[in-house]
Amino acid sequence: MSDKGTIQSSMVETRKFPPPPEFSRAAHISSIADYEKLHKRSIDDPEGFWREVAEGCHWFTPFDKVVEWEAPFAKWFVGGKTNMSYNCLDLQIERGRGDHTAVLFEGEPGDVRKLTYNNLRDEVCRFANALKKLGVKKGDVVTIYMPMVPELMIAMLACARIGAPHSIIFGGFSASAIADRVHDSNSQIIITADGGWRRGSVVPLKQNVDDAVAKCPTVQNVVVLKRCENDVSWNDGRDHWWGDLVADESDVCDPEHCDSEDLLFILYTSGTTGKPKGIMHTTGGYMVYTGYTAKMVFDLKPDDIYWCTADIGWVTGHSYITYGPLQNGVTVMMYEGAPNHPDWGRFWDMVARHKATIFYTAPTAIRAFMRQGDDIPDGHDLTSLRLLGSVGEPINPEAWMWYQKHIGGEKCPIVDTWWQTETGGIMITPLPGAMTLLPGTATCPFFGIDAAVVDEQGVEQPANSGGFLVVRKPWPSMLRGIYGDMERYQEQYWSQLDGIYFTSDACRRDDDGNFWLMGRVDDVINISGHRIGTAEVESALVSHAAVAEAAVVGIPHDIKGQALAAFVALKADRSASDEIKRELLAHVVKEIGAIARPETIRLTDALPKTRSGKIMRRLLKELASTGEVKGDTTTLEDFNVIANLRESDEG
Ligand code: PRX
Repeated sequence: MSDKGTIQSSMVETRKFPPPPEFSRAAHISSIADYEKLHKRSIDDPEGFWREVAEGCHWFTPFDKVVEWEAPFAKWFVGGKTNMSYNCLDLQIERGRGDHTAVLFEGEPGDVRKLTYNNLRDEVCRFANALKKLGVKKGDVVTIYMPMVPELMIAMLACARIGAPHSIIFGGFSASAIADRVHDSNSQIIITADGGWRRGSVVPLKQNVDDAVAKCPTVQNVVVLKRCENDVSWNDGRDHWWGDLVADESDVCDPEHCDSEDLLFILYTSGTTGKPKGIMHTTGGYMVYTGYTAKMVFDLKPDDIYWCTADIGWVTGHSYITYGPLQNGVTVMMYEGAPNHPDWGRFWDMVARHKATIFYTAPTAIRAFMRQGDDIPDGHDLTSLRLLGSVGEPINPEAWMWYQKHIGGEKCPIVDTWWQTETGGIMITPLPGAMTLLPGTATCPFFGIDAAVVDEQGVEQPANSGGFLVVRKPWPSMLRGIYGDMERYQEQYWSQLDGIYFTSDACRRDDDGNFWLMGRVDDVINISGHRIGTAEVESALVSHAAVAEAAVVGIPHDIKGQALAAFVALKADRSASDEIKRELLAHVVKEIGAIARPETIRLTDALPKTRSGKIMRRLLKELASTGEVKGDTTTLEDFNVIANLRESDEG
């Protein structure tokens, strides 16, 4: 299960923040008693509970069974036919929200665009018709590699409308990473843009796609949105301008009647091997769960202006920019660029100008803002905010307190939401009108979630003992598999404890039952709230001609939470130099993307190994984090290796 030994937790936090009474009074769930009652019902009678929730959605054909569970395979809302884009758009329009702003977009250069629910449906239908004309059919995987502009949301909703699963690749990934994902998903079409704005420069998205497609002969069509007007090379026949494609298309497109278990999307995420996993999410369960969690966790009300700063290329953007909030008919803010462009006041200026009411971001961003000084947020009118959220990694109490004071004006609850790409939606979280908050805990499981902290045998741990976080019952938005690799699905998530979902996170519960997340127990590193598998970075390094062996470990980082430290043994005929270090760092960026760039890289003759030849990452981690090795070296094969590593300079 893990070679990390006993999990210990020493953090004690006693500051408590009960929900503000005026917030509770108006909240969907307004007391801990209500939460407990509903949570108990959801666990005792999951079918009855989820049936009621699902009946709030639109179904072309009603489902005849709530759940079928043959561990580890789940089917939810069996027999039901529905359409995600219909629920996000048409249903909202039927409910009278047609002229309400659905998307409030701001580009990095400052351009602002608003689309009502009517406008958004029109655009989605036009693009859906264009996709059909290009030959995209139900079940075909459509790759999307776009900047954070409304067309990204339009593209994903258009795929959902015609039943074509999307595979969205974050715009920071490199051409090689695109090629791997396109190849794995057998995708024949890529939707991209000429470029996207980032810190005043153009990210050459089309160029990256061209480089990727050179390695993917199966790709037949590339759709290109004009965003930055930068020069692009063109392949007639294969490449199509978005604007030309939609020009004559009708704004009516009948939604495909999708089976509840039809694939809605694939989203690649890092695991413990060198190959990213295509996490599969299907239609009905994911729809019901994201719509309902968005409503309850963010306490959504019709006039909310909701801003989640994630990129749609990550699961947070899928579930809580597009699908969850739109099913609730609110206004979703969307921002294209960097938080510090043109300066560190950008987010606060946007909150003030657009009167955002809910703001959801990652601890890494909060820490970066903290470092810039209090006067920046304090100089903006943030009084429109009523609720804050955090996601992606544990939030340290210092950052929590700063967020609460300087962004929330000491009046906004903070929902610290724990979940994963695999879980599809928020799993452990405060309900803001009900829970007393303590900085640093994600508090309690959401309705229907049977979470527990257990030891290696699956025995539930007493309060305040660390263990593994698991989920003991299926839930509607759980992943349905790994694309093309169901064996890995079973092994990765269900083999440690039979029939129980293993999260790979360490956790403890306190005396009041709050869950305190303590980070991953596998070799997945959480950098700025984004997952990178050390094995992926190692395999990128080893693919460089000069490298014999590489080991990559996670180290603590003030802003990013964690960063990567690389140890590289060069081939015998190559000698160490600053130049080769630079070359290796650039190689990782080229193979994966800038987020995978190691913070430090040490060149060495050999890596420390056990007698059986396993690289001792534990020692490397200690060395990279503390500068020395005190830990147990009894199985180390060659002690000189550590001495040499200590001497090898860092860079
Ligand atoms: O370790 C947990 C951490 O992020 C991992 C999931 O990463 P990803 O699939 O990229 O999804 C991130 C956004 C949902 C988890 O295994 N994590 C996420 N949220 C929290 C967290 N750790 C502590 N507290 C959180 N609120």
